[in-house]
Amino acid sequence: MNNETLIQIAIDAKENAYTPYSGFRVGAALLTEDGEVITGANIEIASYSPTLCAERNAIFTAVHKGARNIRKMAVTADAKDTFPCGVCRQVMREFGKDMEIIVANSVDDYRVFTLEELLPHSFGPEDLTE
Ligand code: THU
Repeated sequence: MNNETLIQIAIDAKENAYTPYSGFRVGAALLTEDGEVITGANIEIASYSPTLCAERNAIFTAVHKGARNIRKMAVTADAKDTFPCGVCRQVMREFGKDMEIIVANSVDDYRVFTLEELLPHSFGPEDLTE
C-alpha cells in the first residue's frame, strides 16, 4: 500500500476521534507485516489520564488481532506537523522496531521518518534478554 492511501485512511479515521476536552483530533492508520490496515483515533476521558492516543489505539487493536510487526503508520491531526508523543514512540518500538512513521498534513504534504530517527538509542524487548 502506498503512503498516500494510508494517509487518506488516517484522515478518515480522525473523524471517529472522541475529544470533548481538547478538541484536538488525531487519526492513525498502520500497515502490518501481513498487509492488514488498522486504524485508530484518540479517545479522551473526563479524568484525563486514561486518554488514549490515536497511535496506541491503532497499535493495540492490531496486536489484539494477532499482528506483532508493524511496517508503517500514517499519523494526521487537526494541527500541522503533529508527531507521535513519547509514550506512543515507545509502544511503536515494541511492535515496529523497523517501521516508518508518516507525519501527514494531507495526502500531498507529508514527511516520512524511521522509528530510529524518532526514538534513537531506544530500549526494547531484546534488551531484557541480551
Ligand atoms: N494525541 C494523540 O492522539 N497522539 C499524539 O501523538 C499526540 C497527542 C492526543 C491525545 C489527546 O487526546 C490530544 O491529542 C491532545 O493531547
